Amino acid sequence: MEHLKQFEAIIKQQLERVERIKKQDDFIDYGSLDTIIIGVVGGDGIGPAITNQAKRILEFLLKDDVDSGKVEFRVIEGCTIEKRAEVGKAIPDDVLEELKKCHVILKGPTTTPRKGDPWPNVESANVAMRKELDLFANMRPVKVPEEGIDWTFFRENTEDLYALGSQGINVTEDLALDFKVITTQGTRRIAKAAFDYAKKNGKKKVTVVTKANVVKTTDGKFLDVCKEVAKDYPEIEMDDWYIDIMTAKLIDEKRRKDFQVLVLPNLYGDILTDEAAEFQGGVGTAGSANIGKRYAMFEAIHGSAPRMVDEGRDIYADPSSVIRAGAMMLSHLGYQEEADKLFKALEICSQTEKKLVMTGRSTGATSEDYSNYIMGTIDKL
Ligand code: IPM
Ligand code: MG
Repeated sequence: MEHLKQFEAIIKQQLERVERIKKQDDFIDYGSLDTIIIGVVGGDGIGPAITNQAKRILEFLLKDDVDSGKVEFRVIEGCTIEKRAEVGKAIPDDVLEELKKCHVILKGPTTTPRKGDPWPNVESANVAMRKELDLFANMRPVKVPEEGIDWTFFRENTEDLYALGSQGINVTEDLALDFKVITTQGTRRIAKAAFDYAKKNGKKKVTVVTKANVVKTTDGKFLDVCKEVAKDYPEIEMDDWYIDIMTAKLIDEKRRKDFQVLVLPNLYGDILTDEAAEFQGGVGTAGSANIGKRYAMFEAIHGSAPRMVDEGRDIYADPSSVIRAGAMMLSHLGYQEEADKLFKALEICSQTEKKLVMTGRSTGATSEDYSNYIMGTIDKL
C-alpha cells in the first residue's frame, strides 16, 4: 500500500534525525568567535518596523563591539509571506542560506497561513526555522512579581506533533493520521537544558508536564528520560504533572507560586505558555528564545498585525516584545550587564514610569519615539 511506504519513509527519516542528534557537538562558545554575526529577520506586517527598532537598541548597547568588529548585524530580507508563497516554501532557500551564516537571529513575526487565507498552505516559518536550525529548546520566561509568579518554561521545540505536522496521512477519505514523535536524545537534551538552567539560577524544582497516563509510549518516554536526567541533579527536586491538571493549577493562586522551571513536550508547551503569558499581560508581552547547539533565534511571539500596516499604523506598533527578545539574546550571548540594563529599562518604560504610552495609533507614541525613550532610560541607569 502507498501509505505503508510513506510510513516507512517517515520512520527512516526520524531514525536518521536521531543519529544526527547523537553526533551533535556541544553548545557553541561565543567567546571563541572573532565575530558574532547577528541576523535580523523582519518578517511580515509590523515585523520589519518593530524589529528595526530592536536592532537600533541592540546596536546602541553593543556600540563598542560593533565598532571593533566583534559584533556584526546583518539584515536578512525576503522572509515574507509574499516571497514564501511565491516559492512555495516555509523559508526561501536564499534566506535559509543567509540564516545559516549567522550565529544568532532576531526575528519579527511571520505570517502562518490558515485555512481560508489567500495564501497557499506553506508551513509556519517559525516551525521550519526551529527544525532547520535544530533550535530544540524554546525558553519562555513569565514573571509577575507582585503575584509571586516566576516561571521559566522549557518547551521542546522540534519533536512531538510538530515534527511531522505537515506530513500526516489521509489514508482514506475517512481516516486521517498524524504522528507524534518523541526520542530519547531529543528529550534528554531539553531535560538537561531545563535542569542546567535550574542549577545555574538557584532554582529548587523542575516540573515535568506530560499526559503519560494516556499517551503512554511517547509521553511515557519523555517522562522516563526526564527522571533519568534528574538523577544527575540531586540538589534539584523533580515532580511531574499531567497537562490537564497543570493548566488548572496555573490559575490556582495558592499552588502556582510553587512552580519554577517547567519542561514539556512541544504541543503542551505551546498551549501552556500562552496561558502562562496571559498572567503577565498576554502573549504580546512575552519574548521567546529558541536555542540550539549551533544557532539560536529570538522572537516576538505575537502576530504580524497586517491590518495595522494596511491602515498605515505600523509606525505606532509596540516594539516591546521583540525588544525583550533582543534582551534575551544579549543574555544568551553573555552580554549580561547590557541585558540587565535593557530588561530594567523595559520595566521602567512600560510599568513604573510610563512617560510614553503606546496605543497602536496616533493617540500614542511611535515605535521610534518609544525606542528613543528606552535608550534615554538606559543612559540614566
Ligand atoms: C508559537 C506559535 C507557533 C507554534 C505557531 C505560529 C506555529 O504559536 O511560537 O508558540 O505553534 O509554535
Ligand atoms: Mg504558540
